[in-house]
Amino acid sequence: MRSAGGAAAAALYALVALSVADGADDNQAKSHEWDVLIFTQHWPATVCYQWMDKDSSHSCAFPSQKNTWTVHGIWPTKFGEMGPSFCNNSWKFDPTLIQPIEAHLDQYWINVEKDTPHYSFWGHEWSKHGTCAAVLPPLNNEMKYFAQGLLWLQLYSMSEILAKADITPNEISTFEPLHIYSVIKAAIGKNPSLHCALDAHSGKSYMFEIRICFNKSMELVDCDGIKLSGERSILRGDKLIHCDLTKPVEYPSVVPPIKQSIVSRLPLIEIYKLITWLRWFTL
Ligand SMILES: *[C@@H]1O[C@H](CO)[C@@H](O)[C@H](O)[C@H]1NC(C)=O
Ligand SMILES: *[C@@H]1O[C@H](CO)[C@@H](O)[C@H](O)[C@H]1NC(C)=O
Repeated sequence: MRSAGGAAAAALYALVALSVADGADDNQAKSHEWDVLIFTQHWPATVCYQWMDKDSSHSCAFPSQKNTWTVHGIWPTKFGEMGPSFCNNSWKFDPTLIQPIEAHLDQYWINVEKDTPHYSFWGHEWSKHGTCAAVLPPLNNEMKYFAQGLLWLQLYSMSEILAKADITPNEISTFEPLHIYSVIKAAIGKNPSLHCALDAHSGKSYMFEIRICFNKSMELVDCDGIKLSGERSILRGDKLIHCDLTKPVEYPSVVPPIKQSIVSRLPLIEIYKLITWLRWFTL
C-alpha cells in the first residue's frame, strides 16, 4: 500500500514538474522584452485606398478636420525584430475605460476601416501592443496608452511638420522620399522611419506611415536598430526608408480612384484569347 501510494505521489510530482517546466519554456520562448516604442502616424487617404483596394464594397471614416495625420499605434519593439506582441491575453480591451477621450480618439486615432466594429481597431492596438507597453508606468493602463498617442500626435504632428516645408497634400505635385525623410529628421532632431504604400495597379508610391521612436524614459530617440517590416525591409544607408527611392511620392488630398481589378484584367484576357485564336488559325 505504502509503496503504491509513494509511486502515485512520485508520478503526480513528475507530472507537476513537467507542467511547470513547460510553463517556464513557454515564457522563455516568448520574451516580452523590448527596447523602444515606435509611435506611428498614418495618412488616412492612403489607409482608405488600401482598404478599398482589398474590396470595393469597403467604406472609410475620416477625421472631420481635413489634412490631418492620425495615430496608428504605439508599438514596443525589440531592436532587429518585430514585436513583442500580445503580452497579456487576459488583459482584455474595455471600451468603457477610454470613454472620457473617445471623442478625441474618433478624430485623431480614427478607425479608417469603417466597416469593422467600432472598437476593433483600438481593441487590436491594445491587445497586440498596449499589453506589452504596459510594463512602463506612464503606459500601464488603457487610458494612459491611448492618451499618450493623442499627446504625441499633437507634439509631433506630421501634418504641421510637412506643411512647414511646403509638403502638402495635393493631386499635382510629388515629393522625393529622401527629401521627406530629411524634413522630418530636421524637425524632430532624430532619425524617423518613413513608409510608402506601393500601388500594384499604377506603380505609384503613396505617402503612408511615419514612425518616430521613444525610449523607456518616453524621450525621443533615433529609430536606428528597428526592423522596418517583414522581408521587404530595406535600410537605405543609415536611413530607415521603406519606399521605392526611384519613385516620387504622391501625397493625395483625397482617396485616389480605385482601379477595379476585373476591369483592368479584362483586356488582358481578351488579348490572350485573340492570340490563342490567331495561333490556332495560323497553324
Ligand atoms: C495581465 O492582466 C491581468 C488583467 O489586467 C492582470 O491582473 C495581470 O497582473 C497581468 N499580468 C501580467 C504578467 O502583467
Ligand atoms: C532616453 O533618452 C534620453 C535622451 O537621450 C536619455 O537621457 C535617457 O537616459 C534615456 N533613457 C533610457 C531609459 O534609455
